[in-house]
Amino acid sequence: MTILVTGGAGFIGSNFVLDWLADAAAEPVVNLDALTYAGNRRNLAALEGDARHVFVHGDIGDRALLDRLLAEHRPRALVHFAAESHVDRSIHGPGAFIKTNIEGTFTLLEAARAHWNGLAGDAKAAFRFLHVSTDEVYGSLGPGEPAFTEANPCQPNSPYAASKAASDHLVRAWHHTYGLPVLTTNCSNNYGPFQFPEKLIPLVIVNALAGKPLPIYGDGMQVRDWLYVGDHCSAIRAVLARGRCGEVYNIGGWNEKPNRDIVHAICALLDELRPDAAGPRARLITHVKDRPGHDRRYAIDARKIERELGWRPRQTFETGIRRTVQWYLENAAWVAAVQSGSYRDWVATHYAARG
Ligand code: NAD
Ligand code: DAU
Repeated sequence: MTILVTGGAGFIGSNFVLDWLADAAAEPVVNLDALTYAGNRRNLAALEGDARHVFVHGDIGDRALLDRLLAEHRPRALVHFAAESHVDRSIHGPGAFIKTNIEGTFTLLEAARAHWNGLAGDAKAAFRFLHVSTDEVYGSLGPGEPAFTEANPCQPNSPYAASKAASDHLVRAWHHTYGLPVLTTNCSNNYGPFQFPEKLIPLVIVNALAGKPLPIYGDGMQVRDWLYVGDHCSAIRAVLARGRCGEVYNIGGWNEKPNRDIVHAICALLDELRPDAAGPRARLITHVKDRPGHDRRYAIDARKIERELGWRPRQTFETGIRRTVQWYLENAAWVAAVQSGSYRDWVATHYAARG
């Protein structure tokens, strides 16, 4: 038995593969990743020499490759993380989001359908396609509105969110029309080890350590629900093991916070763990031009996954953010390696326009 993971060299995918294989009894993983700017083999360095991990450098849009991998490894499940994932990049250039998140998911679904159709008996009954999606598909909430449930309408606002919503619709339709045994998860904002420093939390950590400005979009009162990545991974394992086919499961941390509070919390932790002689890190906070179409608030109602599958997050924000800051402090070589020329170009161009 094997599972096929897509996007397993990215932030959440690599955490998932590492956590999965931390169990000595776990099934082997075939890890298909195109190694875009966000994919990083270093995230998987701990698996060097581990025969249970087979890394394949390739694109989910490559149907011939998918067919070959499915025929060769005959996975009992497919866990689909691969995506373009950064909202700001989707505003600068939506094309890659349409290609990978929509067309790529379509190609993967078609390959999975052909593979599943070729299975029989118990193998066919046990097969699962788990699609990893986001709370951003639900749109934005007002201050007093109830948190998103699985019954909320899809109202995506950014090109990224729209491309993920489109992929969710495809997954739903492949179940409804063809009977493909799918599961969809919609999760809130993740943070933790191996997150590429274009997203708020790692960006603030690496900039603060370098004494650079900490850019807060607009008034910084946009609210997100933050979940430690290890908790997202355990939720996905629960859904894969016990989720009902065709169902959607929201995953969240019960942990809504405005961006300003997140940035201040990181500054305080860094001041404690790595004091700066120049003064408190909060002095580096800079308010910059807002993100176009910026969603004001996300909040996840994660009662369904708790009720049906018994899952709840283990980390609070306080424990999760402390682990995360400590990880970045202890992994300076990883941080230096990801700050390549293309990363520096992105930061320079994107933030120059907000100045
Ligand atoms: P990421 O950008 O860190 O990683 C994406 C990975 O996918 C990279 O390794 C990249 O190389 C790979 N990839 C991209 N295009 C590919 C293609 N065409 N073929 C094969 N591989 C390709 O993303 P992440 O933050 O780890 O997110 C993973 C998934 O979880 C995404 O589907 C995202 O929408 C979803 N999600 C993310 C969050 C979050 O807070 N980061 C929250 C909820 C859901
Ligand atoms: O909600 C789940 C989503 O969370 C995932 O689907 C996405 O893949 C993931 O990138 C994330 O999207 P966000 O846009 O919420 O994440 P980001 O880290 O880019 O931004 C978090 C908040 O911080 C958001 O309100 C924008 C703000 N922000 C972000 C950056 C990069 C800033 O104020 N300054 C910044 O420099």
